[in-house]
Amino acid sequence: MKHFLTLKDLTPAELKLLIQRAVELKKLHQHGEIYQPLKGKVLAMIFEKSSTRTRVSFESAMIQFGGGSIFLSPDDTQLGRGEPLEDSARVISSMVDAVMIRTFAHSKIETFAKYSSVPVINALTDEFHPCQLLADMQTYQEHRGDIKGKKVVWIGDGNNMCHSYINAAEQFGFTLNIATPEGYEPDAAIVEASKADVQLFNDPKAASEGVDLVVTDVWASMGQEEEQRKREQAFAGFQVNQQIMDLANKDALFMHCLPAHRGEEVSAEVIDGPQSVVWDEAENRLHAQKALLEFLIGE
Ligand code: CP
Ligand code: NVA
Repeated sequence: MKHFLTLKDLTPAELKLLIQRAVELKKLHQHGEIYQPLKGKVLAMIFEKSSTRTRVSFESAMIQFGGGSIFLSPDDTQLGRGEPLEDSARVISSMVDAVMIRTFAHSKIETFAKYSSVPVINALTDEFHPCQLLADMQTYQEHRGDIKGKKVVWIGDGNNMCHSYINAAEQFGFTLNIATPEGYEPDAAIVEASKADVQLFNDPKAASEGVDLVVTDVWASMGQEEEQRKREQAFAGFQVNQQIMDLANKDALFMHCLPAHRGEEVSAEVIDGPQSVVWDEAENRLHAQKALLEFLIGE
């Protein structure tokens, strides 16, 4: 049995196959073909933070695959009233075929996985967001082909998405420039583990020269709402705008996991412009996670 807590839980070869499969599953779906490899299977979905894309994509994936899903919020379960994670993991996993979790500390999902008898999928923690990277890698593949050997710039906060980009650089074989304000760098241990593929900058312009993909994310993540003001000041000068896109290669793409704040981390001109692939990126959450579910719990 495998879990998917970070991109490093799969080998580069497995990830490559998974992206190819996501592309195929998307075509099947677009041709209106019914494909139900998960008939009778159930996915439990524990959400301790808000979500639009992750919830809709996992629920739709399970329905389209012939199975079902259960949405569990801490407000309505004993998890929110302090039932130990270990006990909850044993009980929930005894009744379903996989568990998807969006939570705060990454250690919580690790604990859950340790006591779960079925695969556990990380649907975002404070440290990582690997499902989003599957969709991003599929999107790059569909628009530009193999990302291996390409150059990517991450501009903004050294957050969960940034950490998963670092993992992706190693697993998919691209170079990653990371431009953050001082004090907002990604976790040093995560950088160290992939240091051959990653370079840190404090100047977004220098980091963007000649890149093939420009990626950003919100300045204040879920759970950091009270830091919004302070962060707006710290990140002034880190907006992805046309000036940044002009430094990148001519055929560079722009990605953002969404939700986005136009006028903060990205200008409207860029996110709604011709280089932006954010809508494909969001849709691909569905197809990439179908490939993941098939890989983890299919026959
Ligand atoms: N990108 C992403 O995970 O979106 P949601 O928070 O809407 O699920
Ligand atoms: N970094 C953001 C990603 C949202 C999908 C957050 O954690 O809120």
